[in-house]
Amino acid sequence: MVSLQMVCIAWFWMLLLISVSANDVSTVPPFSAMYVFGDSLVDNGNNNYLTSLAKANYEPYGIDTSWGPTGRFSNGKMIVDLLGEILGLPYLPSFEATQIQGYNITWGVNYASAAAGILDETGRHLGQRITFNQQVQNLQTTINQLKATMDDMNLSQYLAKSLAFVNHGSNDYINNYLLTGLYSSSYLYDPTTYAEMLIKQYRTQILSLHDLGLRKFFLAAVGPLGCIPNQVSRGLFPTGVCKDDVNAMVILFNDRLKFLVDELNTQYNGSSIFVYGNSYAAILNIIQDPTAYGFATANTACCGVGMFQGRITCLPFEIPCSNREEHVFWDAFHPSEAVDRNLASRAFNGSTTDCYPVNVSQMATMF
Ligand SMILES: *[C@@H]1O[C@H](CO)[C@@H](O)[C@H](O)[C@H]1NC(C)=O
Ligand SMILES: *[C@@H]1O[C@H](CO)[C@@H](O)[C@H](O)[C@H]1NC(C)=O
Ligand SMILES: *[C@@H]1O[C@H](CO)[C@@H](O)[C@H](O)[C@H]1NC(C)=O
Ligand SMILES: *[C@@H]1O[C@H](CO)[C@@H](O)[C@H](O)[C@H]1NC(C)=O
Ligand SMILES: *[C@@H]1O[C@H](CO)[C@@H](O)[C@H](O)[C@H]1NC(C)=O
Repeated sequence: MVSLQMVCIAWFWMLLLISVSANDVSTVPPFSAMYVFGDSLVDNGNNNYLTSLAKANYEPYGIDTSWGPTGRFSNGKMIVDLLGEILGLPYLPSFEATQIQGYNITWGVNYASAAAGILDETGRHLGQRITFNQQVQNLQTTINQLKATMDDMNLSQYLAKSLAFVNHGSNDYINNYLLTGLYSSSYLYDPTTYAEMLIKQYRTQILSLHDLGLRKFFLAAVGPLGCIPNQVSRGLFPTGVCKDDVNAMVILFNDRLKFLVDELNTQYNGSSIFVYGNSYAAILNIIQDPTAYGFATANTACCGVGMFQGRITCLPFEIPCSNREEHVFWDAFHPSEAVDRNLASRAFNGSTTDCYPVNVSQMATMF
């Protein structure tokens, strides 16, 4: 009898421990899944399957990971990998991979594609890419697959509790508007009209994702493109000086993105949340005061700086710098993992300057 009582007490404590750990954020993801839409800043391998010049599935990309080159345009993990880690989600499969092999899509899918943009024409000189419009279509494909495992009620709850991470717009500038010899957009539109046109399309694309059932949106701003090594090292501009005219164009877009967030939060108050992720300010902070964040160099890339002076990405088997943790930029376009770690933490945990009107940890607890 005594021993049975002790067994019962032991069971009670075990059950209590299990229920405590079940409520722990680190073991139970606050989001049911994460769906990623975007460009090379978040592409985790979709372009490996395309005929494109915008690829990163060769060394030294991925040099600081155990998995090696995967197609990520980084020395290590990207913001969505690191944010996923914080949220307790496993690394996501790329959409193209899920269409070929039996990957588990329960925790979400990554649709992002290097060179892609809000406009279909963006990045076309680099070859195939999955445009934002096509990425929206691809979510529909995933949802059709999910319907095999969930009934409609559970599926809509599952999608409503998922995080949509959107990172688009950079290529509509660096692989469209700013390439005046290849694209006509800068002749057709002044920077304000162009930003308005981009936001109009972006709004439609976000609302299409909303129509498909997503309710929690993290919309990353475009970073200070006038400060990336690809821009600063060019032509007449002395190395290390940001191009203010390029940053001014990006601000036109970002300001309107923030207005869009206000508009949508008012329209869908209580049922959906749209967040403006201020990566522009976050990255500019780091570039303007790198040492405060532990960086030594903010105006040259760690890789791809040789004869092309930071105009292109890191080339196959090129030898990168050894102090990668101290470089803001990994290649001429993309931040290092160290920067993305800072951005992921600000997205999750940041103030209203970083995330407006709420941060990702607050998004997790809404509705
Ligand atoms: C996918 O993973 C989830 C969660 O771990 C699991 O419940 C489910 O059975 C898995 N599905 C497949 C098809 O393996
Ligand atoms: C839907 O959710 C309910 C309650 O969470 C569960 O009992 C049921 O098995 C689920 N149905 C399917 C088809 O997943
Ligand atoms: C949403 O509604 C609440 C109360 O109903 C209100 O306090 C809040 O300001 C509204 N938010 C927006 C963005 O309209
Ligand atoms: C959240 O913020 C606190 C305090 O600023 C910090 O110590 C912690 O590391 C942050 N968590 C994450 C996941 O970034
Ligand atoms: C962001 O996240 C932290 C930690 O979860 C929270 O304490 C803070 O209030 C949040 N929001 C803002 C606006 O700082």
